[in-house]
Amino acid sequence: MQYTWKDIEGHVAACTRCPLSRTRNHPVMGRGNGGADIMLIAEAPGGEEDRQGIPFVGPSGEILDSLLRDCGLKRAEIYITNIVKCRPPGNRDPGEEEKEACFPYLKYETYLLKPAVIVCLGRVAAQRILSPDFKITRQHGSWTYRKNYALTATYHPSAILRDSSKYGAVKQDFCEIVKKRDELRLSGRTDCRRV
Ligand code: URA
Repeated sequence: MQYTWKDIEGHVAACTRCPLSRTRNHPVMGRGNGGADIMLIAEAPGGEEDRQGIPFVGPSGEILDSLLRDCGLKRAEIYITNIVKCRPPGNRDPGEEEKEACFPYLKYETYLLKPAVIVCLGRVAAQRILSPDFKITRQHGSWTYRKNYALTATYHPSAILRDSSKYGAVKQDFCEIVKKRDELRLSGRTDCRRV
């Protein structure tokens, strides 16, 4: 069966696959350009995202917008989602069962989007997508290639809220992400007409 974006959104909206469905206000489906070359994957919705049902609309979203602006990117050109679509109470890390219960949605989003570049924002996403022992501090900005995807990770924007000195390093990672997207476009590995 071939799901559409609308189907996935409907499944996420009605999801009861894990206990987070009992404490959420709104599930937060990924958002952005359904033909984007760049897919950002973060951890889980925070309080404001849970209230509005939209990813990155709280304080981390302001930092994210500033990083995008500094690298000449717009939200309208990218797709942003989370490992889990419902807020863990108190913003704790999502549990293993919660991540696994939600993983099929991320797989469908990736399948439909077919991004050229996948960016993990923060430890939780990097350890689920890249490697269980991924160390953001040492390995952020490094690249791996899997199937048709170039994958990387950088700090979660909330890390900058806690320590503003990280902004420069994350900005550099974001600018490298744009360069990688442009290189892949030039080499014909992405379809420029979709953006
Ligand atoms: N933090 C996340 O990891 N995701 C969001 O959508 C917002 C804040």
